[in-house]
This record gives sequence, structure tokens and C-alpha cells, in this order.
Amino acid sequence: YEIYLNGMTGAVPRLPTDLTRLEELTERRLGPGPVGYVAGSAGDGSTARANRAALGRRRIVPRMLRDVHERDLSVEVLGRALPAPLALAPVGVLSIMHPDAECAAARAAAAQGVPFTLSSASSTPMEQVAEAMGDAERWFQLYWPKDPEVGRSFLTRAKAAGFTALVVTLDTPMLAWRPRDLDQAYLPFLHGVGTANYFSDPAFQAGLAKPVLEDPNAAVMHFVGMFSDPAKTWPDLAFLRENWDGPIVLKGILHPDDARAAADAGMDGVVVSNHGGRQVAGSVGAADALPRVVEAVGDRLTVLFDSGIRTGDDIFKALALGAKAVLVGRPYAYGLGLDGQAGVEHVIRCLLAELDLTLALSGHAGPTTIGPADLVEESA
Ligand code: FNR
Repeated sequence: YEIYLNGMTGAVPRLPTDLTRLEELTERRLGPGPVGYVAGSAGDGSTARANRAALGRRRIVPRMLRDVHERDLSVEVLGRALPAPLALAPVGVLSIMHPDAECAAARAAAAQGVPFTLSSASSTPMEQVAEAMGDAERWFQLYWPKDPEVGRSFLTRAKAAGFTALVVTLDTPMLAWRPRDLDQAYLPFLHGVGTANYFSDPAFQAGLAKPVLEDPNAAVMHFVGMFSDPAKTWPDLAFLRENWDGPIVLKGILHPDDARAAADAGMDGVVVSNHGGRQVAGSVGAADALPRVVEAVGDRLTVLFDSGIRTGDDIFKALALGAKAVLVGRPYAYGLGLDGQAGVEHVIRCLLAELDLTLALSGHAGPTTIGPADLVEESA
């Protein structure tokens, strides 16, 4: 009601409450280069469309007369109580959206009580982001560097900076064919954006012939060579277990056999995700992959979900399909681009308010009572 009450004095929200409108507004404000990088996806965009279609095809079947006057959005994720089943996804290079970049997004998450996942490819060193968050819940996303010393150093720094969970992204051993970026010949990393965690890292610096400031181009090329490692296989996960004593979540899992392999390797969770459609063009819509992963490992691992979440009812559907919580990516990046920290808070508040209403109007006092029986699937 806050929005309607403010409206009585003539005030309307600064940003639209339909978050699907944010992309277009951000492009008008910031121009096509940065927005192309954020909005863009792999190939002809079919996977990003499949993400929306997979959620859209599933329809909620509301229940009536079930006492929903008091509601509680809280859930337990990775052994910790969260006030709501939502976290901010790791999104790199946020300085292309706003000068306050990751710190503004992290402050917004902290203010709204949702975990912030900091990308390895952050525009800001992880210690600064941690400081901006106080003791609020934060997770660290790892692009697994080729150089094990840099990997170990990242994990040591993240632990010291108070990141609780490690989210290891497996779907990006290299960047995909992304026509919007290719056509503009625009890749933020080559401009030194998204390299701050690396350039500030002692183990990374030790691998350079000259200090970053003396030869920034060589530092960028060193980053490109070690950013990720396509040669990794499942047994390599032991390295992570040895160097991280908190929960480890594998991001980018779509196949149930990979989810089983994650459980067998002693991981704590998976994020069912296709990177927002940015990696494999023609891949399965993430929500279509979710039920099989939940069936395979739902009793052994914490299953999280992202790729295509734009509304509160999208969150409802992902939870009904068995996810414990969802991550949201592009919408908060646009919120940041349009209005800094306040824009990110707007996105979080809209999603949670709409989720709360969707739950209530569908007959649920909280996320824990939702299940597959609350959805029907329209034929494709
Ligand atoms: C991402 N994503 C991502 N994932 C990751 O693990 N590390 C990263 O650094 C990034 N960087 C990144 C940049 C940009 C601009 C986007 C849009 C996405 C993927 C992200 O975590 C998440 O999987 C998707 O964004 C989810 O899909 P939606 O919510 O954007 O549809």
C-alpha cells in the first residue's frame, strides 16, 4: 500500500513496477554499448527466450479459503535462514551500469536483507564490497582461474572478507558467441573492467612480468589467459573442497547426471541456470531443466534457480518446481543503471511484494507449502 498512499500526494514510483520495462529505459539512458552487454545473450537469443517461455508456459492454479492473513517469506538455504527466497545473482563488470557499481548493489541487497553474490569479474575488489555490506549475508562467485595459486588466493581473500558460500560457475569456461557484443566489438574486460579482483590479487600480480600500472595491457592479456580453464573435470572439485570450508554451490547445472555428480563430489548445492541464456544458444530453458534436477538431487542438495526471473509469479513457479530460492540477474543491473542503490532496492522490493501477493492470492502463507501441484503446464 505504500505506493498507493504516496500516490495520494501525487507521487508515483521513480521506476516502473513492471520490471520487464527496465531494459528499454536503461538503453535510452546509457546507450547501446553497455546495455548490449547486459541484455545480450548467446546466438540468436533463443535460449533467453526459452527461459521466459519455460516459466510462461507454467500457470499457477490458485487455492481459496486457506487463511493467508499472516505470511512469512522466510526459507532455509544452505543451512542459514533467509528472510525471502531471493538472492542477487553474480553479475560482473557493474561499473558499466553505474559508477558505484557492486558497492551500490551490495548495499541495496544488505538493506533489503537478501544475499548478494559478488562476481569474480567484479569492477570493485571484493574487500571493498564486503566493507560496504557490514555483516550482511554475502556469497562469492568463482570463475575458476587456470592458475591454482590465484584460485587459492581468491578463496582465502573471500573467506577473510566474510563471504559465507562459494558459488562456482561451471558454464563459462570461455565466453560464448554473443552477436551483440561481437557486432559492437565491445568486451568490457579488454578495457580493464571486471579485472579489479585479479589486479588487486597478490598471486595474480606475482605472475606478471611488470606491475599492473606499468603495463596494463599485459595485465589484461594475463587475465584473459587465466580467467577460466576449459580443461577442468569433475575430480578437480577436490581442490575447492580442500580450500573452502563453507558451503559450495555449482552454478550452471542443467543435466540431472551433472547434479548427481555434484552431490557425489560432496558439494552442497547447485544453481540450475543457463547463465541467463548467455552461453549455449539453443539450450534448454532453465525452468524446463529444473524438475529433473530436483528429482535427481532435491533430497541431497540445495537446489537454487536462475535465468529468466522477472516477476514475483516467476519466483512462485520456480519454487513450485522445487527450487529453494532464486537468483535474479539483469533486472537489478538495470535498476542499478537507472537509479544506483535505490534502483536495485526498487527491483528487490517489487519482486518480493509481488511474490508475497502471488502467494497470498494463490492460497499460501509462505513458500514452504508450494509444490508442483500448484502449477499446470500448457502445451508448448
Ligand atoms: C551475468 N552472469 C554471471 N554469472 C556468473 O556466474 N558470473 C558473472 O560474472 C556473471 N556476469 C554476468 C554479467 C551480466 C551482464 C549478466 C546479464 C549475467 C549470469 C548471472 O549470474 C545469472 O545467471 C543470469 O543473469 C540469470 O539470468 P537473468 O536473471 O539475467 O535472466
